[in-house]
Amino acid sequence: MRTTILVTGGAGYIGAHIVLELLKAGYSVVVLDNFSNSSKQSILRVNRLAKKTATIVEGSISDRECLYKIFGAYEVSAVLHLAGLKAVGESSKEPLRYYQNNFSGTLVLCEAMDKFNIKNIVFSSSATVYGEPDKIPITECSQTGNTTNPYGTSKYMVERVLSDLCAADSGWSSVVLRYFNPVGAHKSGLIGEDPKGTPCNLVPYLLQVAVGKQTELKVYGNDYPTADGTGVRDYIHVVDLAKGHLMALKLIEDKAPFGIDVINLGTGRGYSVLEIIDAFQKETLQSIPFRYTDRRPGDIAACFADPEYAYKRLNWRAKLKLEDMVRDAWRWQSKNPNGYN
Ligand code: NAD
Ligand code: UD1
Repeated sequence: MRTTILVTGGAGYIGAHIVLELLKAGYSVVVLDNFSNSSKQSILRVNRLAKKTATIVEGSISDRECLYKIFGAYEVSAVLHLAGLKAVGESSKEPLRYYQNNFSGTLVLCEAMDKFNIKNIVFSSSATVYGEPDKIPITECSQTGNTTNPYGTSKYMVERVLSDLCAADSGWSSVVLRYFNPVGAHKSGLIGEDPKGTPCNLVPYLLQVAVGKQTELKVYGNDYPTADGTGVRDYIHVVDLAKGHLMALKLIEDKAPFGIDVINLGTGRGYSVLEIIDAFQKETLQSIPFRYTDRRPGDIAACFADPEYAYKRLNWRAKLKLEDMVRDAWRWQSKNPNGYN
């Protein structure tokens, strides 16, 4: 019987939290990561926390031989596919690298899976595929494809490939999870987000201001049509997000083959930038100096999920609150001011 889960990109921020939940739930796990944006340390810490061992394979999803070796050696029942480059600004400067890694790499992965008759995949997509939403909360039926950068377009293209693959072969089951804004860290403070260079996203940047690595937070625009003028997003605790993946696996175990299913993973609640700063200051008693600047190109005013389909299909809801997100993020950052180094 096949019992192993392959997690591509499993050493990354979200992957490490998923691997921990998988090990705790009794799965055997193989992590495939090329460490382009992570280190082995995250998985070594996960192993410590779980008191179990995930196997680490250093390699790329674009390396066919490496995939063949893994699928030949382990009884893989499903692939959780997180491997990818994710910096939006960088993707506009290096589109070929992003399409090569995120899109072509996924084609190689799917071909190898097909060859070994492994036809269950959970794909890490993003709310970015919705572009500027026509209405909020965003349901899975909202229009997609109006993406504004190569990163987002690569996610949209992979979604289309998975859809076509499932239409062509009824043996495939593919769960596309559209994440909203993952933040926070495991409550142990041992694993968390470790961005390389200057972070682009709000919470990692805010954490660096709090530990003195950045002097102030720039709030990108206070003239949006939102309650306080700043951008509104659906922040979701990374541990809730990880648990959503286990429910997606359960769906596969119970119902496969079912073709493609597309599911939002969000809380259904939006918070503005000022609300995030306020929650952070209250929870951690750290002061966050900030100033307003122009809007960031490509940003939208407000975005949050309709989480009902996730509840219906996966029996999953996000449980952790904003206070948990900021407290856990701060615990990670203050215990590891230099990340895993
Ligand atoms: P991350 O960069 O921390 O993790 C991605 C991992 O993939 C890294 O460990 C990296 O080394 C690895 N990787 C990249 N290319 C690879 C390749 N060709 N072969 C093998 N490994 C490779 O990012 P994350 O925040 O954990 O995101 C995980 C996934 O979720 C990504 O696909 C990302 O696009 C998606 N996602 C993330 C967010 C977010 O806000 N963090 C939001 C929506 C979707
Ligand atoms: C961004 C990406 C999105 C990607 C997601 C997760 C853009 C345009 N969008 O989403 O494609 O899927 O990250 O990686 O980059 N903000 C500030 N100051 C900062 C940083 C952010 O005010 O220093 C504001 C933003 O304007 C936004 C909110 O904080 O209103 C959240 O921003 P961010 O964390 O970057 O996430 P998104 O823009 O939602």
